[in-house]
Amino acid sequence: MSEKTANLAVNGKTMNLAVLDGTMGPSVIDVTPLYKESGHFTYDPGFTSTASCQSKITFIDGDKGVLLYRGYPIEELAEQGDFIETCYLLLNGELPNRAQKQEFSSIIKMHTMLHEQFSRFFHGFHRNSHPMSIMVASLGAMSAFYHDSLDITDDRQRDIASFRLISKIPTMAAMAYKYHIGEPFIYPDNNLGYVENFLKMCFAVPCEEYKVNPVFAHALDTIFTLHADHEQNASTSTVRLAGSSGANPFACIAAGVACLWGPAHGGANEACLKMLEQIGTKDHIPEYIARAKDHNDPFRLMGFGHRVYKNYDPRARIMQNICKSVLAELGVHHDPLFEVAMELEQIALTDEYFIEKKLYPNVDFYSGIVLKALGFPTSMFTVLFALARSVGWIAQWKEMIEDPQQKIGRPRQLYTGHTKRSYVLMDKRSRAIS
Ligand code: SDX
Repeated sequence: MSEKTANLAVNGKTMNLAVLDGTMGPSVIDVTPLYKESGHFTYDPGFTSTASCQSKITFIDGDKGVLLYRGYPIEELAEQGDFIETCYLLLNGELPNRAQKQEFSSIIKMHTMLHEQFSRFFHGFHRNSHPMSIMVASLGAMSAFYHDSLDITDDRQRDIASFRLISKIPTMAAMAYKYHIGEPFIYPDNNLGYVENFLKMCFAVPCEEYKVNPVFAHALDTIFTLHADHEQNASTSTVRLAGSSGANPFACIAAGVACLWGPAHGGANEACLKMLEQIGTKDHIPEYIARAKDHNDPFRLMGFGHRVYKNYDPRARIMQNICKSVLAELGVHHDPLFEVAMELEQIALTDEYFIEKKLYPNVDFYSGIVLKALGFPTSMFTVLFALARSVGWIAQWKEMIEDPQQKIGRPRQLYTGHTKRSYVLMDKRSRAIS
């Protein structure tokens, strides 16, 4: 690391804080000694200027619209690789050779089945439960079934827990969907690839033969690659914070799923499709653009804007092309939602408000249209995001656990509440109900 320092004067005392350089991206000011030496905390709600960790996994340049997994551009991985290879890359740091990819794929296939008791667990839910509620609960419940992969200090158990999660989350997601629609569960078929197996578990029925559409399988595989990891986003930071206490890997991933569910994060794909359906036709777009710009209106353009990207989200551009290929495969030449989305994008990208605030389409803007075209209901969109992101969460969790400097995460606060005051007996308290 460089010997550069940043000088900070607090209460007449000057501190020299170390400036640390990474291999790419902004350098950081190490404020570790700040409280001890100045009695002050830093203050950064939403962590807009805060690096929470060092990581070698994913790099984002928000101004240039760059996304790299272990140094490889997302465009090249999406174009030339596949999701299983991306899982290996995120977990191990390098692309697998042919033998390594074959071995990894075989290991993942060996863990596709869930404990048979799990199906009873699902039957405890209302049929109309949102699939994300089932996923949050089921991931946490995995720690009740797989006791031989809970010890986070044992690297072999960490590996087995990682393989189980990558392998079983598609089975769990498909079961959540089947339960939601009242159809029988379909067991995994290890003769199929990762995505083909998932599509079959979702859309096959016991009474008919099911053939995977290769265009759909390739589209979903690419969508999973696009969603696999994204630096220290809210759900990944949740997984890291949960893991910093030593919680078991299944509980940590369950916490990540819970955070991803929010409409400002992974729930945006579901919210975006509902927004496009609400807009309905191109002539209604100006009304919604005006609402998005009105500070007194809580409405926001879902699928637009990003904390880091102040340029086009590279994933959104790829997603738009996947949209076109899936709609073409379906013989759909005029999808009203896709046309509204394309028009909305064009108008927003030329509107002063969006240009000034650097609001561009993000990964969620087109994903809902593709997923709907693939046959998934909107309630499954964030489940698919969680399925893909689980490998990123696991890779980041492992990196944190294996970091020798790792310690429990415990932020402080700026306290603005009451100063110390004495207890008031009941008959001395004001009778007025405030
Ligand atoms: C994901 O972090 C990640 O990496 C996330 C993710 C991943 O892969 O993990 O990329 C996945 O979560 C993508 C984002 C999906 N969410 C949405 O599409 C929901 C709609 N977008 C917004 O809620 C918002 O843009 C966020 C949450 C994504 C980002 O919010 P920030 O960074 O906190 O920015 P902000 O809310 O402070 O907005 C800055 C300004 C504000 O105006 P001012 O108060 O400065 O006047 O831009 C405005 C906002 O009002 N603004 C929008 C807007 N997003 C921001 N105005 C209208 N429509 C929008 N969508």
